[in-house]
Amino acid sequence: MTDSIQAAADALRRARTITAMTGAGVSTASGIPTFRGADGLWKKNRPELLASREGFENDPRLVWEWYDWRRQVIRDAKPNPAHDVLAAWTRRPGFTLITQNVDGLHEKAGADPLIRLHGSIWHVRCWQPCDAGRRPWRDDTAPFPALPPKCPHCGDLVRPGVVWFGENLDHEDVAAATAAARCDVFLTIGTSSVVYPAAGFVHQARSYGAVTIEINPETTEASGEVDISIRGKAEEVLVELSSKFEV
Ligand code: OAD
Repeated sequence: MTDSIQAAADALRRARTITAMTGAGVSTASGIPTFRGADGLWKKNRPELLASREGFENDPRLVWEWYDWRRQVIRDAKPNPAHDVLAAWTRRPGFTLITQNVDGLHEKAGADPLIRLHGSIWHVRCWQPCDAGRRPWRDDTAPFPALPPKCPHCGDLVRPGVVWFGENLDHEDVAAATAAARCDVFLTIGTSSVVYPAAGFVHQARSYGAVTIEINPETTEASGEVDISIRGKAEEVLVELSSKFEV
């Protein structure tokens, strides 16, 4: 691992533009479960019931019980050293941070700017949507006093402000991430690299000529494609990398 960290630090030092994309693995050290790991959320729950328009149409209360529970787990979680290092790097000119995470921990650590591909669990919007409730707004209530929560504008239901399976990502976020994939170094951190279009950015970056680096304790769908594989935990590897690479 030491050799691959050194190689990654060398690539980062040489780079003018750097893009990092994160997944659920950067938040495990903060006590938030991943989706596909041993205790992953999708091991015990069916995504099509809990994270799709059809699931919500079918049983909005069940969907909201699940999101309400996750919001309570996430509410008290604190950023870990992986979030802290990445937040510091966002202050470097030419650095772009993209996340698939909806937990808000990059923001809590001070990451700015941040491209959030899958929305935020702290946002809600009108399910209909009514005119006033069309755009997502922040609502930190956790737990909600009654489920499912109602739209304050029209009285219909609100839905979580996250991207569900089968839904399109915000086109401005996709455009920003696509532009950021044209970089000198692309890091893919703590993601199983199976959910598209997010999983495609590392391949795009490589095709544009970026040095690609993966940080993950396990092998993933992207492992065979990247230039440098660092088999380790994000919260440890990023701290070591940051000691070798000053922003
Ligand atoms: P996954 O649960 O699919 O993958 C988490 C990855 O984190 C795995 O590859 C783990 O090996 C790795 N991991 C675990 N602990 C780690 C640590 N300490 N440091 C680094 N890596 C670690 O989560 P995502 O790839 O984020 O989408 O999942 C992608 C999307 O699928 C999510 O955004 C969500 C989910 O369904 C939506 O909700 C639309």
